[in-house]
Amino acid sequence: GSRVRTPSDPPCSSPFFGDGFGLISGHYTNYLMLTLICQCLHAQSRRMARMSKDTWISEILAGEYDGQEVELKGWIYRSRGSNKIRFIVVRDSTGNIQCVAKREVLGDLFFDELKSSLIESSVILKGIVQPTDREHGHELQVLSGEVVGSVNPDRPFPITESAMAEADGGETEFLLDNRHLYLRTSRMTTMLKIRSSVFGAVHSYFRDRQFIEYQAPNFVAGAVEGGSTLFEVPYFGRKAYLTQSWQLYAEAAMPALERLYTIAPSFRAEKSRTRRHLTEFWHAEMEIAWASNNEVMKHGEGLVRHIASTLLDERSDELSSLDRDLNLISQYADNPYPIIRYDEAIETLQGKGVEVEWGQDLDYSKEKILTADFEVPHFLTHYPRIAKPFYHRPDPDDPKYVLCHDLLAPEGYGEIIGGGERTWSEAEILERIDEEGTPREPYEFYIDTRRYGGVPHGGFGMGVDRVCTWLSGAEHIREVIPFPRDSRRVTP
Ligand code: 4AD
Ligand code: MG
Repeated sequence: GSRVRTPSDPPCSSPFFGDGFGLISGHYTNYLMLTLICQCLHAQSRRMARMSKDTWISEILAGEYDGQEVELKGWIYRSRGSNKIRFIVVRDSTGNIQCVAKREVLGDLFFDELKSSLIESSVILKGIVQPTDREHGHELQVLSGEVVGSVNPDRPFPITESAMAEADGGETEFLLDNRHLYLRTSRMTTMLKIRSSVFGAVHSYFRDRQFIEYQAPNFVAGAVEGGSTLFEVPYFGRKAYLTQSWQLYAEAAMPALERLYTIAPSFRAEKSRTRRHLTEFWHAEMEIAWASNNEVMKHGEGLVRHIASTLLDERSDELSSLDRDLNLISQYADNPYPIIRYDEAIETLQGKGVEVEWGQDLDYSKEKILTADFEVPHFLTHYPRIAKPFYHRPDPDDPKYVLCHDLLAPEGYGEIIGGGERTWSEAEILERIDEEGTPREPYEFYIDTRRYGGVPHGGFGMGVDRVCTWLSGAEHIREVIPFPRDSRRVTP
C-alpha cells in the first residue's frame, strides 16, 4: 500500500537530490527546491492513496476486517430496499458483498444518489465490516462514499434476463454481441481466472526445466498444417499468411537454444464452427533438441499434469463453483497417461462397428469414441505417414508410419496436443516435401536447419483454449476465451 507522509516524518531525502544538487543552486535555493519537490510528492501520494485500492471483497468475506472501517471499491451488482434503507450488493474481481446503506446515516444527498444508481455503476463505499449469519457471512454498514462512474438511466446495463430471453438471434448471439460487458459476469470472471492459471502453469513448467521462451513471426510465407486452413493476407502487393504454428521457426532456433517454448496465437481458417475450433487460438508449443518421440511425449504428459495440479492449488474454488468434480482433476494430475498405437485405435473403432479406414486421420467423432475407454488423457502414436504433414519423421523400423503423437483428453473431449519427432536429415525432408507436392521455395530456411548440422529433435503444440475448455468442463471453446473468433464473428 502507499504510505502517506506525516508531518513528523524526516524531510524528503531522495538520493537524486543530494549533495550534487547543492553545488549548482546554493544551499538556500536547494532547500526551497527540496521543500517544493516534497510538497509535490505529498500531493501526489495523497491522490494515489485515494485512487489505489487496498481492500478486496474476498478479504472481507474471509473475516480479515471484522469490526473495522474499510474503503470498498467496486461495482453495483444488485440493489433493493426502501426509501430509508438500501441493500446494495457490490462486486469486485474477488467476490460480492452486501452493503447496507441508511438514509439517516448517509444524509439525503448521497442516499438518493445511491438509491438511483443503476447496476454496474462504480462506487466507493466507506463503512464498518459486520459479520452476519446471512448468506456470505459479512456485510458492510455504509457510513459515506461516492458514486464514481454512474450509469446513464437512459442506457441501463444491457445484459438482463428479459433482454436475453427477447433477443432476436437467441441468448448466445446476444451475449456474444455484448461480450465486452458479459466479461463482467461471474461465470466469465471465473473462466478467465482459470485461464490465467493455465497460462501461468505453462510458463512455470517450461521455465523450471530450463526452456527458453522464444517468439516466431505471425506473418509467414507458407503452411505448416496444410493449405486448407491458411489465412491469406494482402502484404504490400504480395500474399502472406497468418501462422498456423510457431514450429518451423522454432526449429530454426533449435540448434541455438536446444530447449524452447512459447505461448502465442495461431490462426486457422476453419470454416466449420465446432465446440473445439477457433480461427484464432492460443498455442503452447515446445521444441527440444536431441529428443525422441517418447521424450517429447513425457513433456506433454508432464505439462498437462502440471496444469491440472496447478488448477487444484490455485483454482479449486472456481472449479467447484462451476460444479467441476475435483476428483477428476486430481486423476489428471496424478495418474500416468497410457500410450496406444494408431493401429490399435483403428482396431478398437472397427471392433465397435465404426466405419473407419486405415490411413485416415481421426476426426472428432472417432476421438470421442476412443476417449470413452480411458479415465485420463491417452496418447495415440505412429499415425500412417500419409495422414500427417511433411515435417513428421518416418519410423525407421517401418516407414509406413511416422513417429508422432496426439494426446486425447477424456470425458469425450479429444485432441489437445499434436506433436512428434521431426524429419532431420536433408535427404529425408526433401523426400517428404516432394511426396506431399509442397513447393520447396518457402521452406528453404527450414531445410537449412538440416543442411547445417541437423540433429534428432521434436516438439508438440497444445491448444491452450482446448485445455481450458476440457478442464473447466465448459460446453464450448468460446466460453473460455475473452473474445472468441470463428468464421462468422470478428466483433466486438
Ligand atoms: O495438431 P496441430 O495442428 O499441430 C501443430 O500445429 C504442430 N505444428 C504443433 C507442434 O508440433 N509444434 O495443433 C496442435 C494443437 C491441437 O492438438 C489442438 O489442441 C490445437 O493445437 N488446435 C486448435 N485449437 C483451437 N482451435 C483450432 N482451430 C485448433 N487447431 C489446432
Ligand atoms: Mg493435430
